[in-house]
Amino acid sequence: MPPVVEAAPAKLNLALHVTGRRADGYHLLDSLVAFAGVGDVVTLEPGPLSLRIDGPFAAGLSTDDNLCLRAARLAGADAAITLTKTLPVASGIGGGSADAAAVLRGLVQMGHALPLQAERLGADVPVCLASGPARMQGVGEVVTPLPPLPPIPLVLVNPGIALSTPQVFAAMDRRDNPGLPAIPRFAGLADLTAWLAGTRNDLEPAALSIAPAVGQVLDALRTTGAAFARMSGSGATCFGFYDSPDRARIAATALKRHGWWAVATELAPPLAAR
Ligand code: C5P
Repeated sequence: MPPVVEAAPAKLNLALHVTGRRADGYHLLDSLVAFAGVGDVVTLEPGPLSLRIDGPFAAGLSTDDNLCLRAARLAGADAAITLTKTLPVASGIGGGSADAAAVLRGLVQMGHALPLQAERLGADVPVCLASGPARMQGVGEVVTPLPPLPPIPLVLVNPGIALSTPQVFAAMDRRDNPGLPAIPRFAGLADLTAWLAGTRNDLEPAALSIAPAVGQVLDALRTTGAAFARMSGSGATCFGFYDSPDRARIAATALKRHGWWAVATELAPPLAAR
């Protein structure tokens, strides 16, 4: 059987409203999620369960208790897994959840059943399993697929700071009132940027209070011509929309001069079209 190769594209919370808090401390979210044209790659081969990690960000991860292994165990499946880590770790763009979802998709291709309660692996796993534009609600387990988004040229930038998601949520709880309104009705995609202007990432002020560099990244995205810039998830990765792929590439080159990780890409089509 040839190896099964699955993309684990970067997840972007284009809008992320925190609408409340559950008794167990998890937060209720309302988010417009899309995926970028860059990501990690997961390769699965038949064999006893094992994990090897390579790629530019492999050093930031342990092979002992990785979400890829936990995903295979939840599915009751064996596989020799290789994770090629192209995206920065703990950076608000899916990371472990995206990789775990890619493992589960690969295992399905190898004939295994998708496990129930995949969200137990991570709140972003259900939306990463869908891997196309979606509205994400609940604590992440309610995923409503949306029609494809336009392939907007964009740049992802991370200032090299790994932010802990629980710490960012805790900082938000201290700073801001929970129970904020849901995202506005997402009627059409004629002008995504105009729709986004009426939304927020409620974790952005909290992340900024922990890592002021997030503010520098957002300013720099705007200075390089981004028509819209925002942080994704709990940060610290931010994204900016550009008018053309060329402008996005030029901006990424300029942003790298700050010593930041920056990549030009686009909002990707749904998985089925990739
Ligand atoms: O599920 P995941 O491991 O991605 O979540 C990391 C942490 O982020 C949780 O332990 C929780 O503190 C916080 N979180 C939250 N509400 C969510 C998702 C995550 O408070 N909906």
